[in-house]
Amino acid sequence: MDAFHIFAFAFSLCFVSVFASTRIVNGTDALEGEFPFAVSLRHNSRHTCGGTILNEKYILSAAHCVCNDKRYGFEPFGWLFSPRNSSAYSIQYGLNEITTEATNVVNVKKINCHNFDSDKLIFDCAVLELESPLPDDGSWKPVTISKDFDTKSPQTGIIIGWGKTAQDAPLSRKLQKLQVDIFDDETCAAAMDNTHHICFGAMNGGACNGDSGTALLVDNQQVGIASFITNKCGIATKKHPNVYSRVPTYFDWISNIMARQDKEEKQDEEARRQQEKQDEEARRQQEKQDEEARRQQEKQDEEAKRQQKKQDEEARR
Ligand SMILES: *[C@@H]1O[C@H](CO)[C@@H](O)[C@H](O)[C@H]1NC(C)=O
Ligand SMILES: *[C@@H]1O[C@H](CO)[C@@H](O)[C@H](O)[C@H]1NC(C)=O
Repeated sequence: MDAFHIFAFAFSLCFVSVFASTRIVNGTDALEGEFPFAVSLRHNSRHTCGGTILNEKYILSAAHCVCNDKRYGFEPFGWLFSPRNSSAYSIQYGLNEITTEATNVVNVKKINCHNFDSDKLIFDCAVLELESPLPDDGSWKPVTISKDFDTKSPQTGIIIGWGKTAQDAPLSRKLQKLQVDIFDDETCAAAMDNTHHICFGAMNGGACNGDSGTALLVDNQQVGIASFITNKCGIATKKHPNVYSRVPTYFDWISNIMARQDKEEKQDEEARRQQEKQDEEARRQQEKQDEEARRQQEKQDEEAKRQQKKQDEEARR
């Protein structure tokens, strides 16, 4: 399968969903609170992709959901993996059943794109910073991302998402889950790249448009990010696997982005505090000067009054 063919499907996994939509094929409804870290990523208030909560301020998703790419970027060509305008994006958290209303919605402040390569379909990973921290209301929990997951042997995993339930079906309003068969390195290497990808199949099901950016989970840890499919929705076989970004490969990048941004914010906060302190000090100095000036003025007025009184008395005499 040539790169363009693969890419065309990857493209549709997210972008079609903006206009049409898709969800996990042949999944079942997730239980209430079963995946408290799952979020819907909204573009102009409509579900477009998914993501997971890293902590109260950061969301993990796929780069192709929020970053320009060199082939189909909306911006001028050459804007490789540059972030799109974050003001169009928000997330909806803490709900199994997503809505079009602004319930549990927080805006995205900053998009961090990894070196997304739309030809090789690697580095399909992005970290979103939220405009305000998620409230501590018990409706969500952070996900644990895996640092050391390997695919030396086949195993099962769970995929989740609000994507289409069939090639021509609409998006699912309810979060779906599906057990999948993760292929071992040997099987995946035939179609993909084991450093950046995890391949899996499923009996009569799999990921579909609108699932991009959601999680592949093994033992309750996130090991993959929904990236692309290599055939129609609902076909996930060894020959035509579903392909997710391999989270352990991006673990350090994800951690560093969060650490760097927290540090930058701390520095901004410190600078703001210093400025406030200086402003406060300047205000105090000004008050002191004003007070001193008023005292001087009072003294002069007092003196002037005394002089006047003296003159008046002398005049009367
Ligand atoms: C992003 O979009 C908003 C709203 O449409 C606009 O006001 C802002 O200028 C845009 N920012 C950039 C960097 O294009
Ligand atoms: C769902 O799975 C069943 C068999 O378990 C299959 O007959 C059906 O075609 C599948 N649905 C889709 C949309 O693939």
